[in-house]
Amino acid sequence: MILIIYFCYNHNRLTLIKNNLILAIESSCDDTAAAVLNNRRVLSNCIHNQNTIHIPYGGIVPELASRAHQSKITPIVNQALYEANIDKKDLNAIAYTQGPGLLGSLLIGSSFAKSMSLALKIPIIPINHMHGHILAHFIENNNYEPPKFPFIGITVSGGHTQILYVNDYFDMKIIGNTLDDAIGEAFDKCGKRIGLSYPAGQQIDELAKTGDSKKFSFPISNLSGYNLSYSGVKTAFLNFIQNKENKSPNFIKENLNDICASLQYTLTKIILIKIEEIASDFNVNKIVIGGGVSANSELRKQLKNLSSIKKWNLFLPPLEYTTDNAAMIGIAAYYKLRNKKFGELTEISQPRLKE
Ligand code: KG4
Ligand code: ZN
Repeated sequence: MILIIYFCYNHNRLTLIKNNLILAIESSCDDTAAAVLNNRRVLSNCIHNQNTIHIPYGGIVPELASRAHQSKITPIVNQALYEANIDKKDLNAIAYTQGPGLLGSLLIGSSFAKSMSLALKIPIIPINHMHGHILAHFIENNNYEPPKFPFIGITVSGGHTQILYVNDYFDMKIIGNTLDDAIGEAFDKCGKRIGLSYPAGQQIDELAKTGDSKKFSFPISNLSGYNLSYSGVKTAFLNFIQNKENKSPNFIKENLNDICASLQYTLTKIILIKIEEIASDFNVNKIVIGGGVSANSELRKQLKNLSSIKKWNLFLPPLEYTTDNAAMIGIAAYYKLRNKKFGELTEISQPRLKE
């Protein structure tokens, strides 16, 4: 019996070792994350979220984020290896986020990855965080076939609002971009004004469920061309709240659910209009969405409605891969490892990394 168990265990390990084993690290913002992937399969996906550190400040404090990454990166990497049942000596490559993101946060992940690659004598694979949000759809999943190229990719997060034409794994052209605030940033800043803690997106989503989205109306910006803007609606919202509060100090408390539903309707409508325009102009019917705001239930519902009307093939990520995670960095690295596209130790972190 013991022999059989021993054989199975080692057989499993040998099967894994023959394939690509990647340790991936994500530290672009306020989540310290590590994952282990065996080809497209996620063996572990661990995250240390820093929300409790930043909540008292109502937003991310970059200096505190870097310090927290520094103290958490070793335990999170160890946890990812432990949960994957992988010895670090069996790894074939180490992936990390090269950008975009906060410089101090990116530096912790890249320095850690480089040191580990030197010690283990294995390659590093620098990854663009935004590619990770899109390529998360290629993680092995029994219920889910990955999208076929080309498709329209949408990344909606706290730092980005982009619409991309995705030709291949690393051939993505930005068609539309926010000219000012990101959609997640608008959720968070408006949420802060009505007393919600950072990050407010998920709380607004919850509160909106029992609210009336038509109760209040805010301007729905629609720029000509494919770019978007969120600063106008944010300012209009802040002024609206101020005016209402001047007349009735309990306005927020008495209308919280309706305020959230109306705000959420407006913020999602702005991007939905652009997606519709772009899908029609580029004649592409595959729509793939990623990033923290792709967890939003109103956005998901409206995208499903539009898809059935427009006959789109819609790809919504599993919730665990919407907000920042290291599995999405690992899957992007897998497609680089397949083609032996490795990084150099001299590679620098790029806070404003684009396509
Ligand atoms: O992708 P992500 O984890 O980090 C960045 O790359 O920015 O996205 C975080 C953003 C935050 O702004 C957060 O409020 C928003 O995603 N978010 C949501 C929801 N869950 C997270 N926004 C709206 N509805 C949600 N359910
Ligand atoms: Zn992100």
